[in-house]
Amino acid sequence: MLPTTLSSLHSTNVTLTPSLSPLSPFSPSSSSFLSLSPSSSTQRRRRLNSLCVFGDTHLRISPKPKGLRVKCLVSEPLKVMISGAPASGKGTQCELIVQKFGLVHISTGDLLRAEVSSGTEIGNKAKEFMNAGCLVPDEIVTAMVTARLSREDVVERGWLLDGYPRSFAQAQSLEKLKIRPAIYIVLDVPDEILINRCIGRRLDPVTRKIYHIKNFPPETEEIKARLVIRPDDTEEKVKSRLEIYKQNSEAISSTYLKIMTKIDGNRPKEEIFKEIESFLLQVQKDKEKMEKSGNTLLESKSHKIQTSASEDNWRGIPTKLNNIPHSREIRDYFYKDVLDATQRAINDGRIRLKVENNIPELNPEMDVYRIGTLMELVRVLALSFADDGKQVKVCVQGSMGEGALTGMPLQLAGTRKILEYMDWGDYGALGTFIKIGSVGAKEVDEQDDMFIIVAPQNAVGNCIIDDLKAMTDAAGNRPVILINPRLKDLPGSSGIMQTMGRDKRLEYAGSFQNCYFFRLLYYAGTQYPIMGALRMSYPYRYELYKRVDEPSGKEKYVILSTFTERPTTDEINDAFQGKPSVMIKPIHFINKCRNEAKNTSGIWGFLSGIF
Ligand code: AP5
Repeated sequence: MLPTTLSSLHSTNVTLTPSLSPLSPFSPSSSSFLSLSPSSSTQRRRRLNSLCVFGDTHLRISPKPKGLRVKCLVSEPLKVMISGAPASGKGTQCELIVQKFGLVHISTGDLLRAEVSSGTEIGNKAKEFMNAGCLVPDEIVTAMVTARLSREDVVERGWLLDGYPRSFAQAQSLEKLKIRPAIYIVLDVPDEILINRCIGRRLDPVTRKIYHIKNFPPETEEIKARLVIRPDDTEEKVKSRLEIYKQNSEAISSTYLKIMTKIDGNRPKEEIFKEIESFLLQVQKDKEKMEKSGNTLLESKSHKIQTSASEDNWRGIPTKLNNIPHSREIRDYFYKDVLDATQRAINDGRIRLKVENNIPELNPEMDVYRIGTLMELVRVLALSFADDGKQVKVCVQGSMGEGALTGMPLQLAGTRKILEYMDWGDYGALGTFIKIGSVGAKEVDEQDDMFIIVAPQNAVGNCIIDDLKAMTDAAGNRPVILINPRLKDLPGSSGIMQTMGRDKRLEYAGSFQNCYFFRLLYYAGTQYPIMGALRMSYPYRYELYKRVDEPSGKEKYVILSTFTERPTTDEINDAFQGKPSVMIKPIHFINKCRNEAKNTSGIWGFLSGIF
């Protein structure tokens, strides 16, 4: 039970050894943090397209196992679980996985549909649930799955379980039988895409192949003529299936947290498969290594080792975040996390974005705030977009009053100079693809493709929103990304902010969409210990984590709940107290934030960086 409301202070007085699973493909650099140089020689190699200078890109971050081949396993075949919302592409990916890895595909949906079309007793019972878009009772499905799992072909070739478990009880049934996968893959796709996919889905009753009227149309007119629509693929039923999925998914994930791998399912299917394939090859490789080293694959031991092998792929929250300064691994984890989210948002055509990354080193409220970390983050983003041939303008607000130093926020003083002195790589990115500027309409040049604005903020007596708005107006459809903005209303020297009306200012600040959000959670009024974390990476949901101490002296972050919008303090407290998750009402984001900004207590009221 939480005795008080959670707040967001950061403790700085504990020194703990940092530990981070080797998730980040950024290699720890020997270069000093304070030197502000790119973190590896690979990263320094730049591709400046129009200058015809080519090299590896600054951050090519998806791990691509090279030279690996699928080999026949002597003892334990692969065991894989795939999960995701309706129409997230499970069936489509399973087809490709089976082709490559030869696993036995067990889809509870397919098994049930086969029972229905054969008119068996099970089928007759299941039919009404399925057609209504509800889950078929556990006992029917579990009996069907466990019977199928015990068949000879499955034992020999391994299994690919699709659509099971779909509830906590089903997951527990498998646990009791010690039936565990080596990897739990979750396909993540935004809701609106899912609905469109379901409505357009068509099935070939002869080959069982899945088509989509727009995305994957049938190859011939003959196939087209025989395609059928699933009875549960209406918009209304899809929405109900989606809700059921969301209600259950967190409880299931908690069973497989350590071996869970989330994959962005909103990409071309070949691209998704490539990523899945690399994970499966890695799991196979680890198993082969283990077998070579002569380990006996007793069920319990095998699970333990498989778990740790797969942990390499688990993109969880780095631990020991109270350790200051943050290690290179921790910083790289967050740079990569922010970069991935920002790239996805830009690729989706979003143009008004904000990143709020409040790890202790990036929280200006703290006495451990490090401008160097902020500058490194900005450099990672700018260089990555420059790699793609974009002209990036990195902007730092200057003086907002009369004279050079009036209205200069403390943490931005001298920042522009630091940016100019930083190492931007060996290929002259600075001055060609990356330019440094200030905030305002006149900073927008025709050749600029996008703008990264470093910590724009209001100061008492000065409002940056005027300049910012003029700049975004001039930028038009070009992306503008705010990094750790602080656009909350502050009083003007005359007691009133001078720009627009308060509502208009807040509305403008709220027009920037979060593409990344990370904040640690503490009890209100305390600085230690960290209770948990809230993370959002576009286009996914807000993830609420609880920090858990382990007997070994280590710690881990366990996911408690996810939210479509940033959760309120009450929602966070409810999740920590184990109350059933409240369905988030579709309140408009701006109104929600506005209301929260008025509240002066609790996590959101405390923060000055919400807008
Ligand atoms: P089930 O058949 O498992 O349905 P589901 O989980 O809702 O998943 P879908 O089959 O709808 O989608 P999918 O993720 O396989 O996507 P697909 O590849 O087809 O279950 C049906 C029902 O059975 C349940 O509602 C329930 O009643 C019952 N049931 C099943 N398991 C149960 C259990 N364990 N307990 C209780 N009841 C259970 O792709 C969808 C569409 O998108 C296709 O048209 C495809 O071409 C397209 N597409 C796929 N990938 C992409 C891509 N990358 N880009 C663009 N389009 C794509």
